[in-house]
Amino acid sequence: MEDQATKLRRLVEDKTGQQGQEEDNSHMELQPAGEDSRTRVIAITSGKGGVGKTNLTVNLAIALGLEGQRVLVIDADLGMANVDVVLGSLSKHHLLNLLEDDTELSDVLIHGPYGVDYISGGSGIEKAKAFSSSDRKRLMQKLAGCGQLADIILVDTGAGLGKNVMDFILAADEVLLVTTPEPTALTDAYAVMKAYSMYASNKNIKLVVNRIYDEAESREVVAKLQQTSQKFLKMPIECAGYIFEDRNVMGAVRKQRPFLATKPDTLASKCVRAMAKSLVYGGDMVVKRGWKGFLQQIFNFSRK
Ligand SMILES: Nc1ncnc2c1ncn2[C@@H]1O[C@H](COP(=O)(O)OP(=O)(O)OP(=O)(O)O)[C@@H](O)[C@H]1O
Ligand SMILES: [Mg+2]
Repeated sequence: MEDQATKLRRLVEDKTGQQGQEEDNSHMELQPAGEDSRTRVIAITSGKGGVGKTNLTVNLAIALGLEGQRVLVIDADLGMANVDVVLGSLSKHHLLNLLEDDTELSDVLIHGPYGVDYISGGSGIEKAKAFSSSDRKRLMQKLAGCGQLADIILVDTGAGLGKNVMDFILAADEVLLVTTPEPTALTDAYAVMKAYSMYASNKNIKLVVNRIYDEAESREVVAKLQQTSQKFLKMPIECAGYIFEDRNVMGAVRKQRPFLATKPDTLASKCVRAMAKSLVYGGDMVVKRGWKGFLQQIFNFSRK
């Protein structure tokens, strides 16, 4: 069995081999899961922008892959093409193209570098609710296939309380709420917790504290938000993990390479690996609505 370092090296080599080549998705080799398998849909969100969602999403996808999970990333930060940027990739197709008769899921599903499979949101999802019912149905039918292709779908949302962001976090089975220890980020994170506590039917939200200098700082942030949540929202909120402030993150962003693939031993990488392990093996298991439930909610279909 290959060890983790070998796997990472292979991911990096894949990327190197790919540079300069035309994007080609014809080699998609995702194995369909069994009919009744349920996919975990995890939305990654934040109150304040720029706190590390996209970096977490992409690196977590790689880390979950190393744990044997089949992962699919959906870039739902509309119009920003964030995932493309962090991966140093460029997607020609996005979600909206699925409305075209001759475009199938395999056309918009990018087999990205470092083994990250993803769909670029473009502006497709944003407009979804303005589409006709037949358009929405077509989108949903084509997207439903994602549930068979992945064990975990990570949805990178925009920041804040906009309608689209709320739609995503309310439709997902689980939410990772990213914050930094800054007071403004905490206030904005609390605003998301409040909205979530009001509208989510099944509450499953966990904190990720990013850019900490020591573990005590993370504990302090978590305790503060937990106490406030318990007192004012009567909602428990756990901590999914923390990530240290790490200059290799910025270095990786500049080079457009995920830090976990290029600097597997850096602190941030270790934190994301630990988070992936705890998401896969640890803690409470949740009752999931799965990918179809997520789509039904996003596209306003009533559940039957
Ligand atoms: N752990 C970290 N250590 C150091 N710098 C970090 C860390 N996490 C994030 N950053 C910095 O913060 C920047 C923003 O990160 P990222 O793009 O992932 O945030 P975001 O929440 O997705 O932003 P947006 O709301 O604009 O989508 C990165 O480019 C990087 O420079
Ligand atoms: Mg982002």
